[in-house]
Amino acid sequence: MFELIQTDKETKARRGRLTTAHGVIETPIFMPVGTQGTVKTLHPDDLLDLGSQIILGNTYHLNLRPGLDVIRAAKGLHQFSTWDKPILTDSGGFQVWSLAKLRKISEEGVQFANHLDGSKMMLSPETSMEIQATLGSDIAMLFDECPPYPCEEKYAADSLALTTRWAKRCKEWHEENASKIVPWMTEPSLLGESPMPQPRQLAFGIVQGSSYAELREQSAKELIEIGFDGYAVGGISVGEPEHEMIRAIDNAVPHLPADKPRYAMGLGTPPQMLEMIARGVDMFDCVMPTRVARHGLAFTEDGPIHIKNKEFEFDQRPLTEYTHPSVARFSRSYIRHLWRAKEMLALRLLSFHNLHFYLRLMQQSREAIEAGTFAEFKDAFITRYNSHKE
Ligand code: GUN
Repeated sequence: MFELIQTDKETKARRGRLTTAHGVIETPIFMPVGTQGTVKTLHPDDLLDLGSQIILGNTYHLNLRPGLDVIRAAKGLHQFSTWDKPILTDSGGFQVWSLAKLRKISEEGVQFANHLDGSKMMLSPETSMEIQATLGSDIAMLFDECPPYPCEEKYAADSLALTTRWAKRCKEWHEENASKIVPWMTEPSLLGESPMPQPRQLAFGIVQGSSYAELREQSAKELIEIGFDGYAVGGISVGEPEHEMIRAIDNAVPHLPADKPRYAMGLGTPPQMLEMIARGVDMFDCVMPTRVARHGLAFTEDGPIHIKNKEFEFDQRPLTEYTHPSVARFSRSYIRHLWRAKEMLALRLLSFHNLHFYLRLMQQSREAIEAGTFAEFKDAFITRYNSHKE
């Protein structure tokens, strides 16, 4: 399921290959976020064009709207969205904390008022796994509690114990029921590819434990005991300073098995991702490249630029030298004009460009690990990226 192809000699970076039902993922990898079953502003063919190997979907949002009946009628999220490559779904745990109101947490699960119409809903380990099986994602995440930052040790310990108990229930439900519900398992002809490279939905655990090293270790050990196909580090990028984020990875990753993929949830900036790869992380997801694009920001090797700035008024260069040909044909001057005129093409081009930048960074990292030059690549990239900061 996960093949470790190469480990870097100077850092802990890894070059790996994860096999899922809808295809093979070369790691390290960035996963564009498609919360509502679409990566905002982009066509699925754009994602193929960008070389995107996997995208993310969200249990919380897709369960609320369009709802499971609509997804079931379409025979899963792949068919519904026409994306025929791997999909990872988040469990809803994090979104309940960040979006919903009037949350009430119990052993059973979380009751909340949803952010669309305020009506009461419940998510539990079983319902989250059932929704993810109905969506038919290639990788399902366990239902967890993501504690806030900062967080008292007692709260973090109790929360972690609950996440572990929920993890057991997720695993039991998944083993017993997923194969009866996942659409491409019950009707394999839907896949179009036969035989399937991976005949089942994978399930990943999520290490919690906030800023506490012993709790991160405990969480990792308890999840490994239950046994998952991969392990994520959660509860990071929740408002903590960057050194705390990196410490959370340092506290968790050494306790994870080398032969399973490792996923840092919800981050980050390009330098942060390189720092995490150097610490042995294989997978990332983040709304940042597409979200900041919709605020006019473009990533470049010299740090982010804001396209509205006057300095680009007559700038005939593309956003970056190596951007995708679909974007490279346009000048900064033209994209600035589109942005100021509030034209939708500006949002689309910036989203396309930023995802290209992120996916290319992963490809460069994979190549550097293979060539044994990852440490130099990382240091040179970060130095140049940060050198233009005021
Ligand atoms: N996305 C970002 N962080 C988290 C987390 O801690 N848990 C889950 N389920 N999703 C996340």
